[in-house]
Amino acid sequence: MDPLNTVLHKEHLTREDLVLLLGLRTPSDTARLRARAVDVMRAQVGDSVFYRGIIELSNICACDCNYCGIRAGNAKVERFTLTEQEVMDGARWCAQAGYGSLVLQAGERGDAGFRDFISHLVRRIRAESVLADLPQGLGITLSLGEQPLETYRQWHEAGAHRYLLRIETTDPGLFATIHPPAQTLAARKQALADLAEAGFLVGTGVMIGIPGQTLQMLADDILFFRDHPIDMVGMGPWLPHLDTPMGDWVQPLPEADQLQLCLNMIATVRLACPDVNIAATTALQAMVPDGRERGLSYGANVTMPNLTPVHARGNYKLYEGKPCMDEAREECRGCLMGRVESVGRTVALNQWGDPPAYARRVGEGKGHW
Ligand code: 5AD
Ligand code: FES
Repeated sequence: MDPLNTVLHKEHLTREDLVLLLGLRTPSDTARLRARAVDVMRAQVGDSVFYRGIIELSNICACDCNYCGIRAGNAKVERFTLTEQEVMDGARWCAQAGYGSLVLQAGERGDAGFRDFISHLVRRIRAESVLADLPQGLGITLSLGEQPLETYRQWHEAGAHRYLLRIETTDPGLFATIHPPAQTLAARKQALADLAEAGFLVGTGVMIGIPGQTLQMLADDILFFRDHPIDMVGMGPWLPHLDTPMGDWVQPLPEADQLQLCLNMIATVRLACPDVNIAATTALQAMVPDGRERGLSYGANVTMPNLTPVHARGNYKLYEGKPCMDEAREECRGCLMGRVESVGRTVALNQWGDPPAYARRVGEGKGHW
């Protein structure tokens, strides 16, 4: 067997193996990585693509992440919060479109009013969607940043069952470079542990191609996913947003290389953490029009159609070049279905699509951090 083949079929990948896979460049090598990741995906999570309709419900944020377009310090953004009716309307649309699962995302806020607004929305969506055609109701995922354990408990109690909180990078130096001093890697890790403690299925992820990030750091990120109770992984390229402190940072990688690195990351996570859900993220589509399809063909099995009302989308730009800014959710639905089908996959409608990783971990008594 040639060395790459040996690594591709290893049960337990070492850090060196991960670095080797992430660094593959030639078309024949990346094709082999891709093919192996798809085989593992089919065997472990199946061939279906799951949708999570995402509503970006507010861009008000107390944080000042150096990369993010809606950081508190960006005075150029017009701040918005959707009304209860707009969120409910989006949730109903999501259920009727058969998406099965809804993500509520917003900037990070610690005020009690916001916390209770979220609990109220989650309760209402769960109650109404159970009454609708979906016997289980809509699955609800939250993506609302770092919060106290009590808040996570309250939201879980209200009926949300998954939570997305990216670690962004597990490298302490790089984390400190891209965040203000008030935000720490230790606090982010604690929040992830608290989410598992509160009973959530936990999704995390990183940005790829941050200046200063190495293949070794990305390999360590993957080891972090593998060594913790992580059920879902969402990753995409770091893309500059001009009105941020990183807006003039020079991307050291040519665009094609950054894209290939993102795809290698998806495939390598699929090999290292075979039964998790992996998202083909919108940011991939910001790099190239068929970025999401490429993510799916490297072993991703989830994608997140945008359900935010068009009037608000322009104010929820985390990075430059975000796609689907003017397309209404109906248009994205048709467009995305075509994109998924173009890579020979089908969408699993009306299902939550929980990753097998969760049931396995609970069965093994490894539900906690
Ligand atoms: N480029 C790419 N991804 C970004 N995010 C925020 N800003 C950017 C950017 N400039 C990602 C972060 C965050 C998620 C909601 O969006 O990873 O966790
Ligand atoms: Fe939104 Fe294609 S996915 S328009």
